[in-house]
Amino acid sequence: MHYPSIFSEGKIGTLTLKNRIIMAPVDTNFADYEGKVSEKMLAYYEMRARGGVGMIIVENSQVEGPRGKHTVRQLCVSDDRFIPGLKRLAFAIHKHQIPAILQLHHAGRQTTREFTGGLQPVAPSAIPCKHLKETPRALMLDEIEEIENRFTKAAIRAKTAGFDGIELHGAHGYLIGQFMSPYTNHREDAYGGDFEGRMRFPLRIIEKIRAAVGEEFPILFRLSADEFVEGGIKLEEAKRIAVRLEEAGIDALHVSAGIYESLMTILEPMSYKEGWRVYLAKEIKKLVSVPVITVGNIRYPDTVEEILSKGDADFVALGRALIADPEWPLKTKEGRIKEIRYCISCNEGCLGNRLTDYIGCSINPEVGRENRLGKKKKPVTPRHVTVVGAGPAGITAALQADKMGHHVVLFERNPWIGGQLRLFASMPTKHRINDLLNFFEYQLKSSNVELRLGTEFDPQNPNTPLDVVVIATGSIPSIPILPGIKDDRIITPVQCLDGQCPKGNEDVLVVGGGVTGCELALFLKSLGNRVILIEKEDRLAADLEEISRMDLLKRMAKEKLQVFLRMSLREITEEGAILADSEGKKFMVKPTKIVLAMGNHAQAILRRRLKGKANRLFVIGDAKEPRTIYYAIHDAYKAVLSIT
Ligand SMILES: Cc1cc2nc3c(=O)[nH]c(=O)nc-3n(C[C@H](O)[C@H](O)[C@H](O)COP(=O)(O)O)c2cc1C
Repeated sequence: MHYPSIFSEGKIGTLTLKNRIIMAPVDTNFADYEGKVSEKMLAYYEMRARGGVGMIIVENSQVEGPRGKHTVRQLCVSDDRFIPGLKRLAFAIHKHQIPAILQLHHAGRQTTREFTGGLQPVAPSAIPCKHLKETPRALMLDEIEEIENRFTKAAIRAKTAGFDGIELHGAHGYLIGQFMSPYTNHREDAYGGDFEGRMRFPLRIIEKIRAAVGEEFPILFRLSADEFVEGGIKLEEAKRIAVRLEEAGIDALHVSAGIYESLMTILEPMSYKEGWRVYLAKEIKKLVSVPVITVGNIRYPDTVEEILSKGDADFVALGRALIADPEWPLKTKEGRIKEIRYCISCNEGCLGNRLTDYIGCSINPEVGRENRLGKKKKPVTPRHVTVVGAGPAGITAALQADKMGHHVVLFERNPWIGGQLRLFASMPTKHRINDLLNFFEYQLKSSNVELRLGTEFDPQNPNTPLDVVVIATGSIPSIPILPGIKDDRIITPVQCLDGQCPKGNEDVLVVGGGVTGCELALFLKSLGNRVILIEKEDRLAADLEEISRMDLLKRMAKEKLQVFLRMSLREITEEGAILADSEGKKFMVKPTKIVLAMGNHAQAILRRRLKGKANRLFVIGDAKEPRTIYYAIHDAYKAVLSIT
C-alpha cells in the first residue's frame, strides 16, 4: 500500500472518511449572480469527488443576503430558494460516496459595497479593513442575534439539502473571526471586552445550530490559529479558543491562518515553504481530542504522509492542489505520483480574478470547463500538427493535440524542454516551477508526441508536414537603443540565469522593476552581490498577481534592496552607467554587470515565413504577446481545441 497513513480511514463526528485527504473550501464564483448552484459548479465538484478525496468542504456559502457577500457570484444558503440547487450539489458529491460539508460564511467587514449591493458592511466594531479600505458599521445587539439565527437557518438548510455537516468559517478575518479577534473586536458589551465576550458570538452560533440539527450532524470550525497581525489572534490565544470550541461541541477543528491584512499567510505565494504552518495544527492537536485538520501550501504526498504519520494532524486539507489536479488522491493511491500536476502557487488563475470572475488555474486549463469535458464531441479528423517551441505553450499545445488524436511533432532548438521557465526555476523562490517542468517531461514521455530536441524547425524541409503549424517560439528580450548598449558588461535575464550570473562580490545594476527584474535583483543580492535596481515608473512588479506582488515587495524590503523609482538608464560609458531621474537629473553608477530586464517582445519570425504555406497557422503564448504562464497555457489549449 502506498502512503498507509493517507489511505487509512478516519472519523469526523458520525462520518467515516475513506482517507485523510479533505478538499479545502475554495470559493469558485461558479454560482450564478443570484448565488444559486450552476451546472459549472456541479461538474467542478463532481470531478473532484471522483478524484478520490475523503471528504469535500464546499466553498463559503453566505448566510445573509448581499450584506454578507464578498464576491460577485458567491454561493448562497441565505434563503430556502437555494435548497434545490444545494441538493443537486450534495447529490453530485454523494454519487461518489464522498461526504459533503457546506461551509457557512458571513464576510463582515471584509467586503466592499461592490458586492453587498451598496450596503455598508457590518462588523463587531467600526474598524476598517486596511486591505479593502472600507469602513464597516458596528452591529447592534439585536442585529447580532439576527445573524446568529441566520447561521442556524443556513445550517438547517444545509441539512435539508442533504449535506453531511457544516463548517463555520471562523477563519481568515471574516465575521466570526472578527468577533473572536482582539484586533477587530473593540466592543465593550456582552459580545466583546474579554475572551469570554469575544467568544460569545461563535459559541452562541454553535449552541443554536446544535439545538437545531441534533447531535449526529457534524459541526466543523475553521479557525485562523495565528492572524499574523499585530494585536490579532496569536497561537496562545488560538489554543484557548480551540479548547473552548471543543467544549461547545464542535466535531473537528480546521486550523488555518491569516486575515486579509496578512493575506499571504492565507494563500501563500510561491516563495513560501511546503507545509510551513503545520506547526499551528500540531500545537492545537496537543490540547483537543476532536480531529484536527491542517491546511496550507501542502502539495506533495510525502508531506501529507509525514504530517499524518507523525500525528501532527488527523486530516490534511488541500485547496489549490485539487484545483490544479482533481485526481491528486487517486494518483497518489495508485502510486502514479509522477502524473500529478502539482499546483505551483502562482495564485494567478485561482485568485487573480476570483472576486469578479470565475476561478481558473494557470496550469490546468480545464478548470471551469468540467461540464463540457464529459460531453460527446464530433469525431476529430486526425491532422498533422507541428508545434515549434517546447515552452509551456508549445508543450500544452502538443499534449492537447495528442490527446485529441492528432499526429504531433514538437520541435525544440534547445536540448531541453521548458524554454525560459527552466532558467527561472533555478531561483529558489521559483522552485515550484520545477514541478511543472517535471510534469511536462513525464507527460511528453507518456504521450505519442514526437519530441525533436536540439532541432531547429525548418519550413523548407520537404519532410516537415505543414498541415497545422503552431508557433510557440516565445519571446526575446527588448534592448533599448542607447549609447554604449553593446557594452560587454550588459547581460539579459536569460543570460544571467544561464551561466553568466555574477556569483558574488560584484556591483550589479538591474534595469527594469517588473517581476523579472525584482526577482533577479533579490537573487543576485542573495549571492552576495551589491545590487541596485532602477525602474522608470513609480510601481514595482506591476505585472504580478496581487498576493505574489505583496510577498515580493516584502522580501525586497526585508533584504533592504536598493531601489530607485522613476529612474532610467541613459548611457553606458567606459566609466559607468549614466542614469537619469524623472526631472532629467543625471547620476553615474559603476556596475561591473548590468542586467537589462526591460521586458520582452514576441518572437514570431516564423509567422511570415509560413504565411500561405501551412493549412492552419496558430501563434500562441509569448510568441503572440509576452505574458504569464496562465496565458501561455490557456492560449495553447484553446487554439488546439479549435483544430477540426
Ligand atoms: C481561489 C480560492 C478561494 C478560496 N475560498 C475559500 C473559502 O471559500 N473558504 C475558506 O475557508 N477558504 C478559502 N480559501 C482558502 C483555502 O481553503 C486554503 O486554506 C488555502 O488555499 C491554502 O491552502 P492550499 O495551499 O492547499 O491552497 C480559498 C483559496 C483559494 C485559492
